[in-house]
Amino acid sequence: MSLPEHFFWGGATAANQCEGGYREGKRGIANIDLLPIGEERFAVASGKVKKLEFDDKYFYPAQNAIDFYHHYKEDIALFAEMGFNVYRMSISWTRIFPNGDEEQPNEEGLLFYENIFLECRKYGIEPLVTISHFDCPIELVKKYGGWKNRKMISFYEKLATTLFTRFKDLVTYWITFNEINMIYHLPFCAAGIYFEEEENQKQVIANAAHYELVASALATKIGHKINPQNNIGCMLAAGPYYPESCRPEDYWQAVCDDRDGYSLIDVQVRGNYPNYLLKKYQREGIHIPFAEGDKELLQKNTVDFVSFSYYNSRVSSADTSKKDTTEGNVFPTLVNPYLKVSDWGWPIDPLGLRITLNVLYDRYQKPLFIVENGFGAEDIPNEKGFIEDDYRINYLKSHIKEMIKAVEEDGVELWGYTSWGCIDLISNGTGEMRKRYGFIYVDRNNKGEGSFKRLKKKSFYWYKRVIASNGKELD
Ligand code: BG6
Repeated sequence: MSLPEHFFWGGATAANQCEGGYREGKRGIANIDLLPIGEERFAVASGKVKKLEFDDKYFYPAQNAIDFYHHYKEDIALFAEMGFNVYRMSISWTRIFPNGDEEQPNEEGLLFYENIFLECRKYGIEPLVTISHFDCPIELVKKYGGWKNRKMISFYEKLATTLFTRFKDLVTYWITFNEINMIYHLPFCAAGIYFEEEENQKQVIANAAHYELVASALATKIGHKINPQNNIGCMLAAGPYYPESCRPEDYWQAVCDDRDGYSLIDVQVRGNYPNYLLKKYQREGIHIPFAEGDKELLQKNTVDFVSFSYYNSRVSSADTSKKDTTEGNVFPTLVNPYLKVSDWGWPIDPLGLRITLNVLYDRYQKPLFIVENGFGAEDIPNEKGFIEDDYRINYLKSHIKEMIKAVEEDGVELWGYTSWGCIDLISNGTGEMRKRYGFIYVDRNNKGEGSFKRLKKKSFYWYKRVIASNGKELD
């Protein structure tokens, strides 16, 4: 089995889950800093509970995270040792514009990222940069209501223009928004939105999604103008829905559920709203807040590639009576009796990755990029202090095998693979450190205790061999 020689192998992180240093370098506070660990986290992330200030009652793991802010040189050196030729990371918006609406960017923030990119380049690692990974300055939430407000487009435009200009010679791979479809499930994370009682939540989300789509198209236009070499992509939280049975009604439900995932990237890839979404909005009495020029902008500035995260598949049923569910990325799904689940209840389905690659390629005929895939598990060092994470190796191996089949046997055009949380970081869903994805262990626990020391796990050496052999040596 073989992959193209120029295949990108690496790992992925997001600013708020690894950087820490939340008050350093004149950084401002972001929505995502305000997600506490514990029971209330989901209510805040989904906009049901309004939390716009820190509260001493809670612990906020993003404040220090794994302190990548001070360890980035050591961490990138470890990525290089594994043989990465790509590193997916994101920008903390409030390092660049602490409040979001300043005239001038914060030089300290720009310098921080410039140093990271230079460090990557030193080792021949291509940075793949997500402009907004669940990230929005809290001041923009307080003053404008986050992405509820069309004004966000110009603040985002300014951020994107600043980044494209300053990093013109250092970065040519960009993603405009992380998992844009998560706006439906985590509106505070994905768009800085919390709901007021009287609000029509579906309309608020449709507005915010439209503004993000316009902002994404605008950034694509500007990015291409500033550097025609820029590759600018969209990003989807993927994973196919399987019908619970072969009843046509169950299959139809699966089609509809899949469409909920694709609808926004359909716009980013094809340049217009799909008819099924227009009809759905019509039925629900939802109006898309088109302004003059939006349609043309969307039409003319489609993305260059489609990136996605894949953790698990899901199950759909037309029968809405109460049934057994299990967890999955961000929201639960019906149990699939054919699949095992992780300790966090996420189904393990390697073939689902091959299916996703094929479905996305059939749908769009655009190059694909797997920018997240991984196994969240608790790691316990053995008596010698070493972590033998065979469970993680098995998960990654089985998924990479399916990925290679999609390329080799099905002819899918795939640019690369960046496994999620290549170094342990805090979980977005739960805020835990205990749920680890990395090849590199970080000494830090759920309470924020630990030395931040980095240790190579067994999977570190395994992934190094995988990369060196371009996916030939998986065992
Ligand atoms: C994706 C996000 O949805 O899933 C990441 O883009 C997140 O930010 C990842 O960390 C894994 O989810 P979790 O909840 O295990 O951190």
